[in-house]
Amino acid sequence: MKSSMTLAEAFKQSEYPVVGHGKRNFRMLLEAFEGKDGLEESDMYGKGETIERFQDKMAAYLGKQSAVFFPSGTMAQQIALRIRCDESGKRKVAYHPLSHLEIHEQDGLKELHRIETVLLADENRLIRLADVRQLGDDVACLLLELPQREIGGQLPSYDELEAIAWHCRGRGIKLHLDGARLFEILPYYRKTAAEICALFDSVYVSFYKGLGGIAGAILAGEEAFADQSKVWKRRHGGDLISMYPYIVSSDHYFDRRIGKMAQYYEEALELARLYNDAGESIRTVPAVPVCNMFHVHADLPKTALEQALADVCEATGVGLNSWVKALDDDRSAYEVSVGDRYADVPKDKLEAAFRLLREKLSE
Ligand SMILES: Cc1ncc(COP(=O)(O)O)c(C=O)c1O
Repeated sequence: MKSSMTLAEAFKQSEYPVVGHGKRNFRMLLEAFEGKDGLEESDMYGKGETIERFQDKMAAYLGKQSAVFFPSGTMAQQIALRIRCDESGKRKVAYHPLSHLEIHEQDGLKELHRIETVLLADENRLIRLADVRQLGDDVACLLLELPQREIGGQLPSYDELEAIAWHCRGRGIKLHLDGARLFEILPYYRKTAAEICALFDSVYVSFYKGLGGIAGAILAGEEAFADQSKVWKRRHGGDLISMYPYIVSSDHYFDRRIGKMAQYYEEALELARLYNDAGESIRTVPAVPVCNMFHVHADLPKTALEQALADVCEATGVGLNSWVKALDDDRSAYEVSVGDRYADVPKDKLEAAFRLLREKLSE
């Protein structure tokens, strides 16, 4: 049976969506405020108990002197790199060619801060110690993204990470962690967040990825760095008079999901095995995930993969994903993030969906 719905429509109506935590609707905010005392006072321009308590909690969790709440990671990280350039008097930073700053921020770092970038490594692989060794003395800061999202969420070994950190320390290059998905990688490394962050001078974490909050970010580091970041937050217009809807919800979803990262990781391993057993034309990147996310690559044009996924969805009720992107005319891919929904999909339904996917892909 061929589905007449688009993949997005089929996924929206599916009885058993496989990816993510749930719908991003107003219920998310209502849930976060359930049972809250309505008389609690709002934060005001970055001050007040609500914001300071949460910043202290995150500084302790990340093992850093000080933490600052930001409306977005985009703002937080451009500011982090600007501060490192100003401190050192250098105008260059280094990161991966597929870093969020390079491909998703409309060149904010270059346009707003006139900072030059060194793109390390090939697009399809991780930054290695050998790449870092080649950096010149004119680089103020290296940004590492763990996991590297655009290549499926890959990670270096802990030994390599430590070696990169030691090298940077020895060379006077500040090391910043794009930890948009830091919580999600802790089960793989079998380390605490503070242990990973100890390798870095500063870190940004997000509250709306694996934690499934609404929006918001924390930037953490030494006290002088955090103080400077507050000045820049004001300059960027990020010092909203009240941010408590984001802070309360970030705190709520942190508490609700921080203990579930190992479960999501195990489930991602299981889901990746199902994809890798679904025939020659489809595989996961990485082959064995290292956190709750991975990419699915298919030797099929985008429209053919969309049709197969929509057919599976309509026939079995299992929504494997809502979108597909073209890699070229003959190959396509999509990203999978495992969250709360996965555990609600009955195993027999999931297996039936993959049996049908295998059939569709071999047609
Ligand atoms: C790796 C990475 N870094 C930074 C960001 C920026 O976060 P925000 O959307 O809060 O600006 C994202 C967002 O998707 C991300 O995936």
